[in-house]
Amino acid sequence: VYRKERCGKMSTKPFNDNFLKACRGEAHDHVPAWYMRQAGRYQPEYRKIREKYSLFEITHRPEVCAEVTMLPIQQLDVDAAILFADIMTPMPAMGIHVEIKSNIGPVIDNPITCKEDVEKLQPLHPSEDVPYILDTIKLLREQLSVPLIGFAGAPFTLASYLIEGGPSRNYYKTKAFMHSNPEAWHLLMDRLGEMTVTYLQAQIHAGAQAVQVFDSWVGTLNAQDYKTFVAPVMNHIFSALEKENAPKIMFGVGAGHLLQEWNKLPLDVIGLDWRTSITQARQQGVSKTVQGNLDPGLLLADWPELEKKAKEILDEGMETPGFIFNLGHGVYPQVKVETLQRLTAFIHDYSAKK
Ligand code: CP3
Repeated sequence: VYRKERCGKMSTKPFNDNFLKACRGEAHDHVPAWYMRQAGRYQPEYRKIREKYSLFEITHRPEVCAEVTMLPIQQLDVDAAILFADIMTPMPAMGIHVEIKSNIGPVIDNPITCKEDVEKLQPLHPSEDVPYILDTIKLLREQLSVPLIGFAGAPFTLASYLIEGGPSRNYYKTKAFMHSNPEAWHLLMDRLGEMTVTYLQAQIHAGAQAVQVFDSWVGTLNAQDYKTFVAPVMNHIFSALEKENAPKIMFGVGAGHLLQEWNKLPLDVIGLDWRTSITQARQQGVSKTVQGNLDPGLLLADWPELEKKAKEILDEGMETPGFIFNLGHGVYPQVKVETLQRLTAFIHDYSAKK
């Protein structure tokens, strides 16, 4: 299938559907690879654009945002693109003022402290509130010859920023709120869950071919609290998206103890970090496609060590159909572009030969 020509930017490459096939557990030519934070500060071209625009300024300009999303596709030969945005992008529309501070992350000046604060949260109307996201997706679909992944933050991870007011180590305010004010907590999960469904549906209708839900910090909960306070909203989100024709990916850091809970949810792909090996995940009963799980620290090690680890992951992942190579978390700004180029080529060659 060849994409049609427009603006001279159109891709003329045949469409590479290895990633979508792997999501569905179907056979493919080679193991598909993409990397979380594959567009970012490790790229000189990104740093140049950031001299001119802030993160939110980039996402508000579809041409610039599409250019940033395309950088790793052109440079690394990865098998999927991920929309360049942030999990906090829809927050202003809900009534939350958020700033992204360099080397810190999202910071909120009026954190949520009570039920009344939760009741003030507004629903998201994507075409009015985040039209630039949908326009970026449309632009990208004209240019890409690999699938485009849309994404959203999961209610727990978003709530942790809204309640803590910024990044946190122990999430004690979030946990205290959740346990002492369960009614307000569930209302918060419902509001954020509705936003997530509406936002992801809009991304899919604009052209996103798969969606990833980032519950980056939910690993801080034990399985029992996850079941009580988080699983119901996750079940609602993935159930509501079942009628859409787009694979659904779940991701969290340090969440190995929640894998059995995730495996019960109506989703297609489970993202693993480096703390749980693919074989361990399979032994625990994970039956879906898995995505992961190279420790991003290895990207700064010498090539022989990196290659050895990548080979180990491929050997484990390729034992069952349905494997996507990724990192256990995002690329660090210190990583060299050449390292990711070499790694991607290695994954493709090694898995095509096997
Ligand atoms: O993966 C990608 O390439 C897509 C882009 C993307 C960004 N944020 C861009 C970004 C995605 C998928 C996110 C999601 C996100 N944002 C998550 C979930 C994924 C994860 O890392 O666990 C979380 C927790 C956030 C919140 C957030 N935003 C953090 C912790 C930071 C880092 C702060 C820093 O400066 O290190 C951000 C800012 C951010 N989001 C950057 C990027 C490229 C760095 C901003 C910059 O260019 O200065």
